Amino acid sequence: MATKLHKDDLIKARYGSQDTPQNIIWNEQIEGLLNHRSIRNYLDKPLPEGWLETLVAAAQSASTSSNLQQWSVVAVTDSELKSKVRALAGGKDGQGNGYIAQAPAILLWVADISRNHDITVDAGLNPSVHEYLDSFLMASLDAALAAQNASVAAESIGLGTVYIGAARNRAKELAELLSLPRYSYVVCGLVVGWPDLEVQTNIRPRLPQQVVVHHNRYQAKDLNTHIEAYEEVFKTFREGLGMKGKTWKEAVQGSATSMEYMDGRQELRSTLDERGFGFK
Ligand SMILES: Cc1cc2nc3c(=O)[nH]c(=O)nc-3n(C[C@H](O)[C@H](O)[C@H](O)COP(=O)(O)O)c2cc1C
Repeated sequence: MATKLHKDDLIKARYGSQDTPQNIIWNEQIEGLLNHRSIRNYLDKPLPEGWLETLVAAAQSASTSSNLQQWSVVAVTDSELKSKVRALAGGKDGQGNGYIAQAPAILLWVADISRNHDITVDAGLNPSVHEYLDSFLMASLDAALAAQNASVAAESIGLGTVYIGAARNRAKELAELLSLPRYSYVVCGLVVGWPDLEVQTNIRPRLPQQVVVHHNRYQAKDLNTHIEAYEEVFKTFREGLGMKGKTWKEAVQGSATSMEYMDGRQELRSTLDERGFGFK
């Protein structure tokens, strides 16, 4: 069973006891955020009535570039379709990310310029701005912010979530499976379900704030001491879950050098080109 952690324990779980920030202002919302952990084991239990409306209301409450609202979400709850999504986002053999099939729903967050493109074309105008990289980025950012608000809302009502970036591995096939229009693509998935509390989930520690925060200007700093301290916290976290030894730096290096890690996402640019996005 998961035990409820309180302020000091939550901060310690996030940072370890060496580089622990001291002056965190506390309230229920911040406690909820600091308690985040991705959930990869779900109960076979239906989602509560109103779950989708609630998560979407939270998602639509996120800020959106110029109020253009260039995102959509496809809620996949049909088991057969969910298995097909899993096959596309399940790695080389389609057997990874099994929680997509296990959980009752996956939300697929779509960067969606199509609506506004049509609104513009239907008025006889040329949506030339949509040919630029920044339009793609705005829509992708909007979709990600919406997804994160939905995730936070889900966690606040006791549901668990895990993002699925692997939804971009076969971006072209996934877009076809979901009948997405041109000028849209799935940025990421978000699995939603009731966490299986019998399976231990620990808070995954993050880098010390000294590594990621710069005051007023980006400062070149010697990060090694702080990163070495983080390696210790990271090691304890992995050992706590019985995971085999791998340093954080090794994980970073693995993901920076392995095409296996890309797993199809190297095709993303050409898929986006085909789907109408421009990169001027
Ligand atoms: C954009 C994005 C894509 C992700 N894709 C996957 C994924 O495909 N499969 C998975 O198991 N976890 C995925 N994750 C979850 C990360 O692995 C997880 O957030 C990270 O390891 C930190 O752990 P935590 O969320 O428990 O704090 C993704 C997270 C993000 C933000």
